[in-house]
Amino acid sequence: MKVVVGVSGGIAAYKAVGVVRGFVLAGHDVHVVATEAALRFVGRPTLEAISRNPVHTELFEGVAEVRHVALGQSADLIVVAPATANTLAKIAHGFADDLLGTTILASEAPLVLAPAMHTEMWNDPATRANVALLRERGVTLVGPASGRLTGRDSGPGRMAEPEEIVAAALAVVGPRDFAGRRVLVTAGGTREPIDPVRFVGNRSSGRQGVALARAAAARGAQVHLIVANLDDGVAPADAGITLEHVDTAAELEAAAGRAAAEADLVIMAAAVADYRPDEVAAGKIKKETQGDTLELRLVKNPDILRGLVDARREGQTVVGFAAETETDREALLELARAKAARKGVDYLVVNTVGWSTGFGTPDNSIVMLSGSGDILTEASGPKASVADRILDVLAR
Ligand code: C5P
Repeated sequence: MKVVVGVSGGIAAYKAVGVVRGFVLAGHDVHVVATEAALRFVGRPTLEAISRNPVHTELFEGVAEVRHVALGQSADLIVVAPATANTLAKIAHGFADDLLGTTILASEAPLVLAPAMHTEMWNDPATRANVALLRERGVTLVGPASGRLTGRDSGPGRMAEPEEIVAAALAVVGPRDFAGRRVLVTAGGTREPIDPVRFVGNRSSGRQGVALARAAAARGAQVHLIVANLDDGVAPADAGITLEHVDTAAELEAAAGRAAAEADLVIMAAAVADYRPDEVAAGKIKKETQGDTLELRLVKNPDILRGLVDARREGQTVVGFAAETETDREALLELARAKAARKGVDYLVVNTVGWSTGFGTPDNSIVMLSGSGDILTEASGPKASVADRILDVLAR
């Protein structure tokens, strides 16, 4: 999809870089149109490197290709972040005195604005009237959030976070083929305590599970997302997602059991520790008293996925994941087919993981099997686009 990101001149322009990056990572072709003022806050090279395209500012550049309208005509989506009070006013009244204005006027694409300004400006009757006019015309506004502003002040006016803007914008254009569906997703990796300060864990960042939750929400689902120990910055703040935090496999089992009772679709993407320490020491284990070796006795955790399959409600679909280190494709698929049968899932998503692949990386490569072991789809790329390919199968 061709996305035009308009950047106007406010301090929040530095966060526009995150918005551009979000669309690029979701696999879109991004073109930045920055106002002159915006380029005083964030550098052109940054926006060009992140968007992987030239940045446009000038109305009188590219005249031969009629650029002042070409960008708008060819865009599938226009997002303005930040939209300052001035830019908001200009858009509301159809001004075309700069490239952003002509691009928006010449476009029939959905328009999403992320306002950012001081609270007094946001509350001013002129801005209120402009916002009402824009909403009436079907423009989507994301934010502003309430919080610390640039000066010493705080209140409504802070630009929404980039991920939230990207998710809201994609939801405006994306298919709504999960509307009305209640989806449970688990993500992240459980930690099984050894003593009050140590645990047995795994390297799951939670990115693929979170990407699935966000994609489902963007496509209209009501999502319950249970997360265990996500990497920093991975937790979503999207509308349509209810977030629940857990730590251990036992907590995940209880939370997933409760939430699955309300779900039409269960996606078990979390990396659950197969074993936990048999006994948890009440105090920190000390090497001074322990000596040269320390033996940990581990006991098996319940298979949560198997439990969910056994308790499956009428019409509920259950999807499992398999992270394997097997590199031979046929051997990997054999393992996966056996796992799908053993767990009784409707679908199994298989990916290879290793020291440098799968866990914690922005990209993933998956094969999706039916419960009976047929290959339904294969996808590689950013976790957001892999999530959409998985949902394409589940939407059928
Ligand atoms: O058996 P294995 O760990 O390979 O299976 C992976 C799938 O099973 C994933 O969907 C994971 O969330 C789930 N699982 C589980 N409970 C466990 C171990 C894995 O639900 N104790």
